[in-house]
Amino acid sequence: MSRRKAAARSSSRQRRARGGSRRNRALAATTGPAEQGHRARQDASPLVKIRGLHFSRGERKIFDGVDIDIPRGRITAIMGPSGTGKTTLLKLIGGQLTPDRGTVEVDGQNVHRLGTTELYRLRMRMGMLFQTGALLTDLSVFENVAFPLREHTALNESMLRKLVLLKLEAVGLRGARELMPAELSGGMARRVALARAIALDPMMVMYDEPFTGQDPISMGVLVKLIRQLNDAARLTSILVSHDVEETCAIADLVYVISGGRVIESGPPQQLRESGSEWTRQFMHGLPDGPVPFHYPAPALEPDLFGEVS
Ligand SMILES: Nc1ncnc2c1ncn2[C@@H]1O[C@H](COP(=O)(O)OP(=O)(O)OP(=O)(O)O)[C@@H](O)[C@H]1O
Ligand SMILES: [Mg+2]
Repeated sequence: MSRRKAAARSSSRQRRARGGSRRNRALAATTGPAEQGHRARQDASPLVKIRGLHFSRGERKIFDGVDIDIPRGRITAIMGPSGTGKTTLLKLIGGQLTPDRGTVEVDGQNVHRLGTTELYRLRMRMGMLFQTGALLTDLSVFENVAFPLREHTALNESMLRKLVLLKLEAVGLRGARELMPAELSGGMARRVALARAIALDPMMVMYDEPFTGQDPISMGVLVKLIRQLNDAARLTSILVSHDVEETCAIADLVYVISGGRVIESGPPQQLRESGSEWTRQFMHGLPDGPVPFHYPAPALEPDLFGEVS
């Protein structure tokens, strides 16, 4: 091997050792100034602090005195049966819904006491991957990720392009920038939605059922990506999911909620070994247990024979 080739190889090895893989470098580059400032202020206080949360939808009580702490820099999973209020909880954290009683603090700010401008500013620091994932169907992958940047910043085209490409690189889809949403697989669409959720360098990302409908490979990709993004970009992640295995594989802390309350919280391993019937039913997917199969309803017979209005 020529000396020049050997020198090039050795310097590329050194670069790899210093900077990790290309993907990790791209992930690190997604950390913008806002996030760096946030990191400098990192402390032991939880990023999200929920106290005495009560919330009803009509007659139906969704939360009946819930306390939750979401630690900074970690992945916290919120798990619980369908219809228990997980999506509702994310909307309460994001200020889209207002509690009947209790408080939600995000980074020291009481979300429901903020004026419109302050709430808007706080929301820009909270990325959200919606349960339905909705990309804008008339815009390309590139333009979907560029959308929040165009909406909220005054970046010039060249800077915007670089940022979008870095976000797409972080989710492994830089090469798919020209595709339209209809040309993507379900897994790819989730990854584009994820790139869009992190476009503004948020301090945290809320994932609502990111694994639903994914095959085992794309599920594995998403699991790894959520962990990598959390660690490389120093995010705080809230992960709402039914998928016990995938969630427990990456969560640092798990809250199980059911019947309007926190049933139990702790590291995944602790919950797997829990003595609580509720937690056991959920963590081990048991059909029988304290969680009822039926949504509350009147007795079947009078209902069938028209005796109930
Ligand atoms: N816009 C709404 N208006 C009235 N009730 C609603 C509304 N959205 C949700 N609900 C009710 O609030 C409860 C909690 O819903 P939510 O979507 O938070 O559950 P979830 O835990 O996210 O369920 P899943 O796991 O199926 O996504 C449900 O009983 C649901 O019927
Ligand atoms: Mg939901």
